[in-house]
Amino acid sequence: MNSNIKIRKAIKEDLVSIFQLEEEAFKPMNYPLFVLRQFYDIAPDLFFVAADELNQIKGYCFGGIDMDKNIGWVFVLAVTKPEQKRKIGQRISLELLSAFKSKNINEIQLTTTPDNTSAINLYEKLGFKKVSEDLNYYFDNSPRIIMKLDSK
Ligand SMILES: CC(C)(COP(=O)(O)OP(=O)(O)OC[C@H]1O[C@@H](n2cnc3c(N)ncnc32)[C@H](O)[C@@H]1OP(=O)(O)O)[C@@H](O)C(=O)NCCC(=O)NCCS
Repeated sequence: MNSNIKIRKAIKEDLVSIFQLEEEAFKPMNYPLFVLRQFYDIAPDLFFVAADELNQIKGYCFGGIDMDKNIGWVFVLAVTKPEQKRKIGQRISLELLSAFKSKNINEIQLTTTPDNTSAINLYEKLGFKKVSEDLNYYFDNSPRIIMKLDSK
């Protein structure tokens, strides 16, 4: 475990750094900064970062809740390349899962690309199972798998 990395809730001032990591990890399919701001505004309790001792952001993850169905969604998880494989992704994810649990949300979903082995392995380690595949999930003809965790 990387003990100099702390997992904490995101604050507004982290958002520009988060956006830079978001671009590094997902461009051209990254969330724009204004969307990150709005996710943060509607669900700050579900928005986490991994920060080093200099408060540099090394990873982040955030989610949202479908209140009608009582389902939590993990929207994004990313760790900077040099810090990957040091359990940071796992630690931030666990923080988000525990935030869902504290809100009595026991069913959690997410999507990822079928070739994203690192992410799929991590999610499976956390108990997620693949439940379906959608060949055109984002209407751009790129496939996504949907994974679900039922922690009831
Ligand atoms: C996916 C990602 C967040 C994983 O973060 P991480 O901090 O490197 O992962 P961890 O060190 O916490 O790894 C936990 C588990 O995930 C799996 N895993 C992580 N990286 C892996 C890799 N390169 N290959 C295979 N499995 C991997 C393993 O099961 C690992 O457990 P282990 O170390 O006991 O084998 C990171 O690779 C990343 O940011 N990728 C780019 C962005 C992305 O694709 N995000 C997911 C979008 S859905």
